[in-house]
Amino acid sequence: MACLLQKASDWSGVAASDAFAIDDTNLFQALGGIQPFIDLSTNFYNRVYDDEEEWFRSIFANSKKEDAIQNQYEFFVQRMGGPDLYSQRKGHPALIGRHAPFPVTHQAAERWLYHMEQALESIPTIDPASKVKMMNFFRHLSINQGQGHELLQRQKRDHVIPWAKLESEGVDMGQ
Ligand code: HEM
Repeated sequence: MACLLQKASDWSGVAASDAFAIDDTNLFQALGGIQPFIDLSTNFYNRVYDDEEEWFRSIFANSKKEDAIQNQYEFFVQRMGGPDLYSQRKGHPALIGRHAPFPVTHQAAERWLYHMEQALESIPTIDPASKVKMMNFFRHLSINQGQGHELLQRQKRDHVIPWAKLESEGVDMGQ
């Protein structure tokens, strides 16, 4: 975990203290509840599903847009101080594991962050300081989301690495 955090800081250029500044205040309360999060995820996924880059759009081809929006805003709400809507519906977020089926390369992470930055810009109900905090958190987190995919590919290729080994390889299945 410490190792992954360090890698995320090195590669994203965002120190853990900046990434987790989202915990300094309760953003859910500060932003006045759930609506800004719904607006953000809706705006984000509208951009993703309309992306001119086919390689990026295709990563989401098997997900329904409405489901993707709900999954995302419920996670954000829960992670940023609101009710644990995501876990009530789906259990532990375990994002690295949940991203494992998708090719989350660094290029994909950059594209994801590009759309998220644009989406944040479009939501006037999120104040500038909160936008900076959220973007730092996203940048930091995005870097690790491809780890599960690499290991899954290796597991398929070698037919030997069971899922249980992911954690022993240093992959935090939490977020
Ligand atoms: C789900 C791609 C980064 C949070 C997904 C899905 C895809 C995807 C294809 C499936 C859509 C769905 O059914 O919900 C990517 C890519 C990323 C990225 C290419 C680039 C780095 C992130 C980051 C976060 C995040 C940084 C959190 C800050 C989530 C959540 C889900 C999700 C909460 C729903 C998981 C589930 O319930 O199955 N992502 N993602 N993703 N992603 Fe990402």
